[in-house]
Amino acid sequence: MTQLHPRVYERVEHLPQGFSIAALEPMRAPAGAVLCPPDRFDVIDVKNPFMAGNAGHVDKELARQEWGALRDAFSKAGARVELLKPLDSCEDMVFCANTALLGIDAEGRKTCLPGRMTFDSRRPEVDVIVAWARANGYRIVDDFADPGLRFEGSGDAIWHPGRRLLWGGYGWRTDPQVYRGVAEAFGVPVIALALTDSTFYHLDTCFVALDERTVLVHAAAISSDGVEIVRRVFERVVEVDADEARRFACNATLLGPGVVAIDRRASATGSRLRELGYDVVSLDTGEFLKSGGSAYCMKNAFF
Ligand code: ARG
Repeated sequence: MTQLHPRVYERVEHLPQGFSIAALEPMRAPAGAVLCPPDRFDVIDVKNPFMAGNAGHVDKELARQEWGALRDAFSKAGARVELLKPLDSCEDMVFCANTALLGIDAEGRKTCLPGRMTFDSRRPEVDVIVAWARANGYRIVDDFADPGLRFEGSGDAIWHPGRRLLWGGYGWRTDPQVYRGVAEAFGVPVIALALTDSTFYHLDTCFVALDERTVLVHAAAISSDGVEIVRRVFERVVEVDADEARRFACNATLLGPGVVAIDRRASATGSRLRELGYDVVSLDTGEFLKSGGSAYCMKNAFF
């Protein structure tokens, strides 16, 4: 197995000669998912284009039901579910993907990188997931990048399933300079992808790795260098068009190996995934789409 140097790759030419996923060190699958109940969920401002015009239009009871179905889907798939306690003033806290990146470092230690939120109103959320991580045996690495740089956790930094490699989106909510420190903290290479369309403001809105070989991607939202490297590394690239991507097709989440939850509106992508042999759980995340999020970013996978 090849232990690749913890460094940042941005172009195909940066990859070492003969680079292949199968030759990378294995990484264990997540044990479960941290979720945060949507007790305080609401849309009160516009942090991303999907939120425009939605202030005051959230059906809270429906949001509760939709969230409950996602939680149950994780449990049914055999994932352990851990819950954060929602903070009163944090209406976005249900999107707990953004406030940290959890993983395993090169020495096998559970490691947590706290998020550095773009919006002030989301900063208090970070302490809650970091406290959870600390209580659950994670080492917390705070100094992975200069203070002042932004990092929105697992919304932008995504583990390659089963391998010691991270994909790092940047441009709208995360600054690219953080990825050197992210690579060092986990002892893994990071493939950095520039996000080029403000609609797809987190990597998890246009890219989701489903297994070692397969990725769902809306290529128009990623730079051409980025798309080239995605096509070089993944054996199977499932293309998602703009309409499906706006319905959050790429914010599908793995519930367990081979089991994918996706919003029912992204039905073309759901069918495609069924044809490819995945067990697809179709969910309604309509209230959360009003805030620019769906299944993927409503959880933070832990190991
Ligand atoms: N309203 C939230 C925000 O703009 C949504 C976050 C969705 N997260 C994600 N990783 N896509 O911050």
